[in-house]
Amino acid sequence: MNILLLGSGGREHALAWKIADSTLLAKLWCAPGNAGIARVAECVSLDVADHAAVIAFCKSNKVDLVVVGPEAPLAAGIVDDLAAAGVKAFGPTKAAAQLESSKGFTKELCRDNNIPTAAFARFSDAEAAKAYIVAQGAPIVVKADGLAAGKGVVVAMTLDEALAAIDTMFDGGFGGAGAQVVVEEFMRGEEASFFALCDGDHALALATAQDHKRAFDGDEGPNTGGMGAYSPAPVMTAEMCNRTMDEIIVPTLRAMRAQGAPFKGVLFAGLMITEEGPKLIEYNVRFGDPECQVLMLRMMGDILPALFAACDGQLNHFSLRWFPNPALTVVMAAKGYPGDYAKGTCIDGVDEAAKVEGVEIFQAGTREEGGRILANGGRVLNVCASGKTVAEAQARAYDAVDRIHWPEGFCRRDIGFRAVAREKGG
Ligand code: AMP
Ligand code: GLY
Repeated sequence: MNILLLGSGGREHALAWKIADSTLLAKLWCAPGNAGIARVAECVSLDVADHAAVIAFCKSNKVDLVVVGPEAPLAAGIVDDLAAAGVKAFGPTKAAAQLESSKGFTKELCRDNNIPTAAFARFSDAEAAKAYIVAQGAPIVVKADGLAAGKGVVVAMTLDEALAAIDTMFDGGFGGAGAQVVVEEFMRGEEASFFALCDGDHALALATAQDHKRAFDGDEGPNTGGMGAYSPAPVMTAEMCNRTMDEIIVPTLRAMRAQGAPFKGVLFAGLMITEEGPKLIEYNVRFGDPECQVLMLRMMGDILPALFAACDGQLNHFSLRWFPNPALTVVMAAKGYPGDYAKGTCIDGVDEAAKVEGVEIFQAGTREEGGRILANGGRVLNVCASGKTVAEAQARAYDAVDRIHWPEGFCRRDIGFRAVAREKGG
Protein backbone atom coordinates (compact mmCIF):
# COMPACT_ATOMS: atom_id res chain seq x y z
CA MET A 1 0.00 0.00 0.00
CA ASN A 2 1.11 3.55 -0.76
CA ILE A 3 0.24 5.98 2.01
CA LEU A 4 0.32 9.77 2.17
CA LEU A 5 0.20 11.25 5.67
CA LEU A 6 -0.68 14.93 6.12
CA GLY A 7 0.76 17.00 8.96
CA SER A 8 4.03 17.96 10.61
CA GLY A 9 3.70 17.49 14.36
CA GLY A 10 4.63 14.93 16.98
CA ARG A 11 1.26 13.26 16.34
CA GLU A 12 2.23 12.72 12.72
CA HIS A 13 5.70 11.44 13.63
CA ALA A 14 4.07 8.84 15.89
CA LEU A 15 1.59 7.89 13.16
CA ALA A 16 4.39 7.68 10.57
CA TRP A 17 6.43 5.48 12.94
CA LYS A 18 3.49 3.13 13.44
CA ILE A 19 2.50 3.06 9.75
CA ALA A 20 6.14 2.42 8.78
CA ASP A 21 5.94 -0.74 10.89
CA SER A 22 2.96 -2.13 8.93
CA THR A 23 3.47 -5.29 6.88
CA LEU A 24 1.08 -3.80 4.30
CA LEU A 25 3.20 -0.73 3.62
CA ALA A 26 4.96 -0.26 0.29
CA LYS A 27 5.72 3.48 0.39
CA LEU A 28 5.05 6.27 2.91
CA TRP A 29 5.12 9.97 2.12
CA CYS A 30 4.41 12.78 4.55
CA ALA A 31 3.46 16.36 3.66
CA PRO A 32 5.01 18.53 4.89
CA GLY A 33 6.58 16.39 7.68
CA ASN A 34 9.53 17.31 9.90
CA ALA A 35 13.09 16.16 10.59
CA GLY A 36 11.97 13.16 12.63
CA ILE A 37 9.35 12.05 10.14
CA ALA A 38 12.00 12.20 7.41
CA ARG A 39 13.65 9.18 9.05
CA VAL A 40 10.63 6.93 8.45
CA ALA A 41 8.89 8.56 5.47
CA GLU A 42 9.71 10.61 2.41
CA CYS A 43 8.75 14.20 3.19
CA VAL A 44 7.18 16.14 0.34
CA SER A 45 6.66 19.90 0.29
CA LEU A 46 3.00 19.86 -0.70
CA ASP A 47 0.74 22.70 0.44
CA VAL A 48 -1.93 20.76 2.32
CA ALA A 49 -4.38 23.67 1.89
CA ASP A 50 -4.11 23.23 -1.91
CA HIS A 51 -6.44 20.27 -2.32
CA ALA A 52 -5.93 20.09 -6.09
CA ALA A 53 -2.17 19.71 -5.54
CA VAL A 54 -2.73 16.93 -2.99
CA ILE A 55 -5.07 15.12 -5.40
CA ALA A 56 -2.57 15.44 -8.26
CA PHE A 57 0.18 14.00 -6.04
CA CYS A 58 -2.04 11.05 -5.08
CA LYS A 59 -2.91 10.30 -8.69
CA SER A 60 0.62 10.45 -10.00
CA ASN A 61 2.00 8.37 -7.12
CA LYS A 62 -0.85 5.83 -6.92
CA VAL A 63 -1.60 6.65 -3.28
CA ASP A 64 -3.97 4.06 -1.78
CA LEU A 65 -4.83 6.01 1.37
CA VAL A 66 -4.39 9.56 2.64
CA VAL A 67 -4.19 9.81 6.44
CA VAL A 68 -5.06 13.29 7.73
CA GLY A 69 -3.43 14.24 11.06
CA PRO A 70 -4.62 17.74 12.04
CA GLU A 71 -8.11 19.26 12.21
CA ALA A 72 -7.68 22.23 9.85
CA PRO A 73 -7.61 20.22 6.59
CA LEU A 74 -10.56 18.14 7.82
CA ALA A 75 -12.62 21.25 8.57
CA ALA A 76 -11.60 22.56 5.13
CA GLY A 77 -13.12 19.48 3.48
CA ILE A 78 -10.01 17.73 2.22
CA VAL A 79 -11.59 14.29 2.73
CA ASP A 80 -14.62 15.33 0.62
CA ASP A 81 -12.39 16.66 -2.17
CA LEU A 82 -10.19 13.57 -2.19
CA ALA A 83 -13.24 11.28 -2.23
CA ALA A 84 -14.75 13.23 -5.13
CA ALA A 85 -11.51 12.64 -7.02
CA GLY A 86 -11.60 8.92 -6.23
CA VAL A 87 -8.87 8.99 -3.57
CA LYS A 88 -9.51 7.16 -0.29
CA ALA A 89 -8.83 9.24 2.81
CA PHE A 90 -8.93 8.49 6.53
CA GLY A 91 -10.81 11.14 8.47
CA PRO A 92 -14.26 12.75 8.59
CA THR A 93 -15.91 14.82 5.87
CA LYS A 94 -16.32 18.55 6.37
CA ALA A 95 -19.92 18.04 7.58
CA ALA A 96 -18.85 15.37 10.09
CA ALA A 97 -15.86 17.47 11.22
CA GLN A 98 -18.36 19.99 12.63
CA LEU A 99 -18.22 17.89 15.78
CA GLU A 100 -14.95 19.73 16.39
CA SER A 101 -15.23 22.85 14.24
CA SER A 102 -18.52 24.00 15.82
CA LYS A 103 -19.09 23.69 19.56
CA GLY A 104 -22.69 24.83 19.06
CA PHE A 105 -23.30 22.00 16.57
CA THR A 106 -22.04 19.43 19.08
CA LYS A 107 -23.98 20.89 21.98
CA GLU A 108 -27.21 20.80 19.98
CA LEU A 109 -26.52 17.23 18.87
CA CYS A 110 -26.02 16.24 22.52
CA ARG A 111 -29.21 17.96 23.61
CA ASP A 112 -31.28 16.36 20.84
CA ASN A 113 -29.93 12.86 21.57
CA ASN A 114 -29.72 12.87 25.37
CA ILE A 115 -25.93 12.66 25.34
CA PRO A 116 -24.62 13.70 28.78
CA THR A 117 -22.85 17.07 28.65
CA ALA A 118 -22.93 20.41 30.48
CA ALA A 119 -26.16 22.42 30.20
CA PHE A 120 -25.63 25.31 27.77
CA ALA A 121 -27.00 28.24 25.80
CA ARG A 122 -25.71 29.71 22.53
CA PHE A 123 -25.55 33.47 21.82
CA SER A 124 -24.69 35.83 18.98
CA ASP A 125 -25.41 38.90 21.09
CA ALA A 126 -23.32 40.12 24.03
CA GLU A 127 -26.14 41.58 26.14
CA ALA A 128 -28.24 38.40 25.99
CA ALA A 129 -25.18 36.32 26.90
CA LYS A 130 -24.44 38.56 29.90
CA ALA A 131 -28.03 38.43 31.14
CA TYR A 132 -27.90 34.62 31.00
CA ILE A 133 -24.58 34.55 32.88
CA VAL A 134 -25.89 36.84 35.62
CA ALA A 135 -28.98 34.63 35.97
CA GLN A 136 -26.90 31.41 36.18
CA GLY A 137 -24.12 32.69 38.46
CA ALA A 138 -20.46 31.59 38.68
CA PRO A 139 -18.49 29.40 38.24
CA ILE A 140 -19.49 29.22 34.58
CA VAL A 141 -17.74 28.46 31.29
CA VAL A 142 -17.61 30.76 28.22
CA LYS A 143 -16.51 29.37 24.83
CA ALA A 144 -15.96 30.85 21.38
CA ASP A 145 -17.91 28.73 18.92
CA GLY A 146 -15.33 28.01 16.22
CA LEU A 147 -11.79 26.62 16.04
CA ALA A 148 -9.53 28.72 18.27
CA ALA A 149 -6.53 26.37 18.64
CA GLY A 150 -7.69 25.28 22.10
CA LYS A 151 -7.59 28.85 23.39
CA GLY A 152 -11.23 29.88 23.01
CA VAL A 153 -12.39 28.65 26.44
CA VAL A 154 -12.65 30.68 29.65
CA VAL A 155 -13.48 28.75 32.82
CA ALA A 156 -14.70 31.71 34.88
CA MET A 157 -14.70 31.29 38.65
CA THR A 158 -16.35 34.71 39.13
CA LEU A 159 -19.11 36.64 37.36
CA ASP A 160 -16.70 39.47 36.49
CA GLU A 161 -14.39 37.07 34.69
CA ALA A 162 -17.29 35.59 32.75
CA LEU A 163 -18.64 39.01 31.72
CA ALA A 164 -15.16 40.15 30.66
CA ALA A 165 -14.81 37.00 28.55
CA ILE A 166 -18.02 37.89 26.72
CA ASP A 167 -16.62 41.33 25.90
CA THR A 168 -13.33 39.87 24.65
CA MET A 169 -15.06 37.34 22.43
CA PHE A 170 -17.56 39.77 20.91
CA ASP A 171 -14.80 42.35 20.41
CA GLY A 172 -13.10 39.92 18.05
CA GLY A 173 -10.58 38.65 20.62
CA PHE A 174 -10.70 35.23 18.96
CA GLY A 175 -11.24 36.39 15.37
CA GLY A 176 -14.10 34.72 13.51
CA ALA A 177 -14.26 31.99 16.16
CA GLY A 178 -15.98 34.37 18.59
CA ALA A 179 -18.93 35.44 16.39
CA GLN A 180 -21.03 32.89 18.29
CA VAL A 181 -20.51 32.14 21.96
CA VAL A 182 -21.54 29.09 23.97
CA VAL A 183 -22.09 29.56 27.72
CA GLU A 184 -22.18 26.37 29.74
CA GLU A 185 -22.53 24.87 33.17
CA PHE A 186 -19.29 24.30 35.10
CA MET A 187 -18.74 20.55 35.61
CA ARG A 188 -16.76 19.10 38.49
CA GLY A 189 -14.71 15.93 38.19
CA GLU A 190 -11.57 14.43 36.67
CA GLU A 191 -10.85 14.88 32.98
CA ALA A 192 -9.95 12.07 30.60
CA SER A 193 -9.62 11.57 26.86
CA PHE A 194 -11.32 8.68 25.11
CA PHE A 195 -10.50 7.65 21.55
CA ALA A 196 -12.74 5.62 19.26
CA LEU A 197 -12.16 4.53 15.68
CA CYS A 198 -15.35 4.98 13.65
CA ASP A 199 -16.55 3.74 10.24
CA GLY A 200 -19.79 5.70 9.95
CA ASP A 201 -21.87 3.04 11.74
CA HIS A 202 -19.63 1.21 14.19
CA ALA A 203 -17.11 2.35 16.75
CA LEU A 204 -14.09 0.49 18.03
CA ALA A 205 -12.81 1.79 21.38
CA LEU A 206 -9.09 2.50 21.07
CA ALA A 207 -7.59 3.64 24.35
CA THR A 208 -7.78 6.38 26.96
CA ALA A 209 -5.33 9.08 27.99
CA GLN A 210 -4.90 12.12 30.19
CA ASP A 211 -3.09 15.22 29.04
CA HIS A 212 -1.58 18.26 30.75
CA LYS A 213 -2.82 21.42 29.07
CA ARG A 214 -1.12 24.09 31.21
CA ALA A 215 2.40 25.25 30.41
CA PHE A 216 3.96 24.84 33.87
CA ASP A 217 4.25 22.33 36.71
CA GLY A 218 1.29 21.87 39.01
CA ASP A 219 -1.10 22.81 36.17
CA GLU A 220 -0.07 26.47 36.36
CA GLY A 221 0.37 29.01 33.57
CA PRO A 222 -1.35 29.47 30.23
CA ASN A 223 -3.18 26.76 28.28
CA THR A 224 -1.18 25.08 25.53
CA GLY A 225 -1.82 22.42 22.90
CA GLY A 226 -0.64 19.90 25.52
CA MET A 227 2.62 19.56 27.47
CA GLY A 228 2.49 15.83 28.12
CA ALA A 229 0.18 12.83 28.36
CA TYR A 230 -0.08 9.26 29.47
CA SER A 231 -2.21 6.26 28.63
CA PRO A 232 -4.30 4.62 29.95
CA ALA A 233 -6.18 7.10 32.17
CA PRO A 234 -6.69 5.33 35.52
CA VAL A 235 -10.08 7.02 36.03
CA MET A 236 -11.33 5.25 32.88
CA THR A 237 -12.24 1.93 34.39
CA ALA A 238 -13.83 -0.74 32.19
CA GLU A 239 -17.22 0.43 33.44
CA MET A 240 -16.52 4.07 32.54
CA CYS A 241 -15.27 3.01 29.08
CA ASN A 242 -18.43 0.97 28.47
CA ARG A 243 -20.64 3.83 29.62
CA THR A 244 -18.75 6.25 27.38
CA MET A 245 -19.32 4.00 24.38
CA ASP A 246 -23.01 3.38 25.17
CA GLU A 247 -24.02 6.85 26.37
CA ILE A 248 -21.81 9.12 24.26
CA ILE A 249 -19.97 7.59 21.27
CA VAL A 250 -22.65 5.22 19.87
CA PRO A 251 -25.51 7.78 20.11
CA THR A 252 -23.26 10.34 18.40
CA LEU A 253 -22.58 8.01 15.47
CA ARG A 254 -26.28 7.20 15.18
CA ALA A 255 -27.18 10.91 15.19
CA MET A 256 -24.52 11.80 12.61
CA ARG A 257 -25.73 9.00 10.32
CA ALA A 258 -29.33 10.23 10.71
CA GLN A 259 -28.23 13.77 9.75
CA GLY A 260 -26.64 12.46 6.56
CA ALA A 261 -23.12 13.12 7.86
CA PRO A 262 -21.83 9.69 8.97
CA PHE A 263 -18.65 10.00 11.00
CA LYS A 264 -15.55 8.13 9.86
CA GLY A 265 -12.16 8.59 11.46
CA VAL A 266 -11.00 9.04 15.02
CA LEU A 267 -13.51 10.47 17.45
CA PHE A 268 -11.66 11.95 20.43
CA ALA A 269 -14.02 12.65 23.32
CA GLY A 270 -12.79 15.05 26.00
CA LEU A 271 -14.65 13.81 29.07
CA MET A 272 -15.38 14.99 32.58
CA ILE A 273 -15.83 12.01 34.87
CA THR A 274 -18.42 13.38 37.27
CA GLU A 275 -20.27 11.80 40.17
CA GLU A 276 -23.05 10.90 37.73
CA GLY A 277 -20.66 9.34 35.24
CA PRO A 278 -18.91 10.45 32.03
CA LYS A 279 -20.00 13.74 30.46
CA LEU A 280 -18.78 15.16 27.18
CA ILE A 281 -16.72 18.35 27.39
CA GLU A 282 -15.92 18.49 23.69
CA TYR A 283 -15.18 16.40 20.64
CA ASN A 284 -12.14 16.45 18.42
CA VAL A 285 -12.30 14.65 15.10
CA ARG A 286 -8.70 13.38 14.98
CA PHE A 287 -6.03 11.91 17.20
CA GLY A 288 -4.85 14.21 19.99
CA ASP A 289 -1.38 15.68 20.06
CA PRO A 290 0.42 14.52 22.28
CA GLU A 291 -2.13 11.78 23.16
CA CYS A 292 -1.53 10.03 19.83
CA GLN A 293 2.12 9.51 20.71
CA VAL A 294 1.29 7.40 23.76
CA LEU A 295 -1.50 5.56 21.94
CA MET A 296 0.88 4.55 19.14
CA LEU A 297 3.39 3.23 21.69
CA ARG A 298 0.68 1.07 23.23
CA MET A 299 -0.94 -0.21 20.01
CA MET A 300 0.21 -3.78 19.49
CA GLY A 301 -1.60 -4.57 16.23
CA ASP A 302 -0.95 -3.29 12.72
CA ILE A 303 -2.53 0.15 12.26
CA LEU A 304 -3.13 0.08 8.50
CA PRO A 305 -5.83 -2.64 8.43
CA ALA A 306 -7.65 -0.67 11.16
CA LEU A 307 -7.53 2.58 9.15
CA PHE A 308 -8.75 0.80 5.99
CA ALA A 309 -11.53 -0.94 7.93
CA ALA A 310 -12.69 2.47 9.21
CA CYS A 311 -12.74 3.91 5.67
CA ASP A 312 -14.54 0.87 4.25
CA GLY A 313 -17.25 0.52 6.91
CA GLN A 314 -15.77 -2.77 8.12
CA LEU A 315 -15.13 -2.14 11.81
CA ASN A 316 -18.00 -4.27 13.04
CA HIS A 317 -15.96 -7.40 13.63
CA PHE A 318 -12.57 -5.72 13.89
CA SER A 319 -10.40 -5.76 16.99
CA LEU A 320 -7.04 -4.30 17.91
CA ARG A 321 -4.71 -5.45 20.64
CA TRP A 322 -2.93 -3.13 23.04
CA PHE A 323 0.11 -3.47 25.26
CA PRO A 324 -1.11 -3.30 28.86
CA ASN A 325 1.92 -1.31 30.01
CA PRO A 326 1.34 2.42 30.40
CA ALA A 327 3.09 4.93 28.17
CA LEU A 328 3.90 8.56 28.95
CA THR A 329 5.18 11.49 26.92
CA VAL A 330 6.92 14.69 27.99
CA VAL A 331 6.71 17.60 25.55
CA MET A 332 9.85 19.72 25.17
CA ALA A 333 8.91 23.18 23.94
CA ALA A 334 10.79 26.33 22.99
CA LYS A 335 11.08 28.78 25.90
CA GLY A 336 8.28 31.34 25.58
CA TYR A 337 5.73 28.84 24.17
CA PRO A 338 2.70 29.20 24.02
CA GLY A 339 3.65 32.88 23.47
CA ASP A 340 6.56 34.11 21.35
CA TYR A 341 9.62 31.91 21.05
CA ALA A 342 12.85 31.73 19.04
CA LYS A 343 13.33 29.37 16.10
CA GLY A 344 16.56 27.87 14.79
CA THR A 345 18.19 26.92 18.13
CA CYS A 346 20.29 23.71 18.15
CA ILE A 347 19.22 20.52 19.91
CA ASP A 348 21.84 17.89 20.73
CA GLY A 349 21.78 14.44 22.25
CA VAL A 350 18.45 13.23 20.86
CA ASP A 351 19.81 9.94 19.49
CA GLU A 352 21.66 9.21 22.74
CA ALA A 353 18.54 9.95 24.76
CA ALA A 354 16.50 7.59 22.58
CA LYS A 355 18.73 4.70 23.73
CA VAL A 356 17.27 4.77 27.26
CA GLU A 357 15.27 1.58 27.80
CA GLY A 358 11.63 1.86 26.76
CA VAL A 359 12.12 5.32 25.23
CA GLU A 360 10.95 6.56 21.84
CA ILE A 361 11.38 10.18 20.78
CA PHE A 362 8.96 11.78 18.34
CA GLN A 363 9.77 15.12 16.79
CA ALA A 364 7.30 17.97 16.28
CA GLY A 365 8.62 21.43 15.30
CA THR A 366 12.06 20.43 14.02
CA ARG A 367 14.14 20.71 10.88
CA GLU A 368 17.55 19.35 10.04
CA GLU A 369 20.49 21.39 8.84
CA GLY A 370 23.99 20.03 8.33
CA GLY A 371 23.13 16.90 10.31
CA ARG A 372 21.89 18.86 13.35
CA ILE A 373 18.35 19.15 14.65
CA LEU A 374 17.06 22.70 14.91
CA ALA A 375 13.95 23.88 16.72
CA ASN A 376 11.36 25.05 14.22
CA GLY A 377 8.17 25.49 16.26
CA GLY A 378 6.65 25.85 19.73
CA ARG A 379 6.29 22.22 20.74
CA VAL A 380 9.47 20.59 19.46
CA LEU A 381 10.09 17.10 20.87
CA ASN A 382 8.00 14.37 22.49
CA VAL A 383 10.09 12.23 24.78
CA CYS A 384 7.98 9.09 25.25
CA ALA A 385 8.51 5.98 27.33
CA SER A 386 6.66 2.89 28.37
CA GLY A 387 7.15 1.03 31.62
CA LYS A 388 5.50 -1.47 33.92
CA THR A 389 3.99 1.46 35.83
CA VAL A 390 3.41 5.14 35.07
CA ALA A 391 6.16 5.88 37.61
CA GLU A 392 8.63 3.73 35.66
CA ALA A 393 7.59 5.26 32.31
CA GLN A 394 7.95 8.72 33.88
CA ALA A 395 11.43 7.98 35.27
CA ARG A 396 12.58 6.67 31.88
CA ALA A 397 11.17 9.65 30.00
CA TYR A 398 12.89 12.17 32.32
CA ASP A 399 16.14 10.19 32.19
CA ALA A 400 16.01 10.69 28.41
CA VAL A 401 15.00 14.36 28.73
CA ASP A 402 18.06 14.96 30.91
CA ARG A 403 20.35 13.63 28.15
CA ILE A 404 19.06 16.18 25.65
CA HIS A 405 21.05 19.40 25.43
CA TRP A 406 18.81 22.29 24.45
CA PRO A 407 19.27 25.39 26.64
CA GLU A 408 16.51 27.26 24.78
CA GLY A 409 13.92 24.60 25.55
CA PHE A 410 11.81 23.71 28.58
CA CYS A 411 9.44 21.00 29.73
CA ARG A 412 7.18 20.26 32.67
CA ARG A 413 8.84 18.06 35.31
CA ASP A 414 5.61 16.57 36.67
CA ILE A 415 3.93 14.81 33.74
CA GLY A 416 1.90 11.91 35.10
CA PHE A 417 1.80 13.19 38.69
CA ARG A 418 -1.84 12.22 39.29
CA ALA A 419 -1.35 8.66 38.08
CA VAL A 420 1.93 8.28 39.99
CA ALA A 421 0.23 9.46 43.20
CA ARG A 422 -2.54 6.91 42.60
CA GLU A 423 0.03 4.14 42.12
CA LYS A 424 1.55 5.09 45.44
CA GLY A 425 -1.91 4.80 46.98
CA GLY A 426 -2.18 8.58 47.27
P1 AMP B 1 -12.28 22.57 25.66
O1 AMP B 1 -11.44 23.37 24.72
O2 AMP B 1 -13.75 22.66 25.40
O3 AMP B 1 -11.77 21.18 25.86
O4 AMP B 1 -12.05 23.23 27.10
C1 AMP B 1 -10.76 23.43 27.60
C2 AMP B 1 -10.74 23.07 29.06
O5 AMP B 1 -11.66 23.87 29.77
C3 AMP B 1 -11.18 21.65 29.32
O6 AMP B 1 -10.14 20.75 29.18
C4 AMP B 1 -11.66 21.75 30.76
O7 AMP B 1 -10.55 21.73 31.64
C5 AMP B 1 -12.26 23.11 30.81
N1 AMP B 1 -13.71 23.04 30.60
C6 AMP B 1 -14.37 23.17 29.43
N2 AMP B 1 -15.70 23.05 29.61
C7 AMP B 1 -15.90 22.89 30.93
C8 AMP B 1 -17.07 22.73 31.75
N3 AMP B 1 -18.30 22.78 31.24
N4 AMP B 1 -16.89 22.57 33.07
C9 AMP B 1 -15.65 22.57 33.62
N5 AMP B 1 -14.51 22.72 32.91
C10 AMP B 1 -14.63 22.88 31.57
N1 GLY C 1 -3.95 17.56 23.21
C1 GLY C 1 -5.23 18.05 22.89
C2 GLY C 1 -5.55 18.06 21.45
O1 GLY C 1 -4.89 17.45 20.62
O2 GLY C 1 -6.53 18.69 21.09
